[in-house]
Amino acid sequence: MNIILLGPPGAGKGTQAARLVEHHGMRQLSTGDMLRAAVAARTPIGLRAKEVMDRGELVSDEIVSALIDAELTAMGEGVGVIFDGYPRTVQQAEQLDAILARHHRRLDAVIELEVDEEALVRRICGRFSCANCGEGYHDEFKPLRVPGTCDRCGGHEFKRRPDDNEATVRKRLQVYRNETAPILPLYEQRGIVTRIDGMAAIEEVTDAVERALASA
Ligand code: AP5
Ligand code: MG
Repeated sequence: MNIILLGPPGAGKGTQAARLVEHHGMRQLSTGDMLRAAVAARTPIGLRAKEVMDRGELVSDEIVSALIDAELTAMGEGVGVIFDGYPRTVQQAEQLDAILARHHRRLDAVIELEVDEEALVRRICGRFSCANCGEGYHDEFKPLRVPGTCDRCGGHEFKRRPDDNEATVRKRLQVYRNETAPILPLYEQRGIVTRIDGMAAIEEVTDAVERALASA
């Protein structure tokens, strides 16, 4: 299956994608994660993307679509894919159609996580992850079981994203409304969109995603 997880910053795209990877052996393709890796490695793309990301604006359509295309080429055809944070503009949605056709894949479902904007600010400002294995946490909603120690790998170092501050989150929400929300009607016309309440507990959202995929 090839699916898109769509939703504003902090909606839980990354959280739910990680669970689908674990349960179904699908691959998560997060353009945000790819760009952050490029920034950390100081590649030419990373150097160009860093300031744009820190401002909460969008990196160019050509760059992100090229990243997705390259990942699909490297992956081969048999593996299911979760697109997390891509596409984010009408142009990216059109580019994705062309990329999927080239790779002999079809889009099975678009899952939209619906969330309340004020809750998102709270979610994002409390988020951190393990610097070693990348497991995601939240100060309030998904705390460490043992303080200072990663539940998954036992690591002791954690990091927070530079764009996870209130001012940038508000900018990212505005960009989502203006640039990303307009792609939904394209997929609605194809009858492949399922809306899920992203304000429910993490496990409940996962159950709803699983039900949506079972009927896709
Ligand atoms: P990206 O990394 O994609 O960030 P985003 O879309 O802003 O989304 P987030 O990763 O912040 O949120 P999420 O939905 O994954 O939520 P999460 O699961 O972590 O993009 C970053 C930047 O890169 C962009 O601003 C842009 O500059 C650039 N970029 C990326 N892709 C691009 C593209 N295609 N085109 C152009 N530019 C691009 O959850 C958040 C927190 O809430 C966590 O702490 C989690 O534990 C908690 N949580 C999750 N679900 C629940 C729940 N149900 N209840 C309670 N807490 C929950
Ligand atoms: Mg994410």
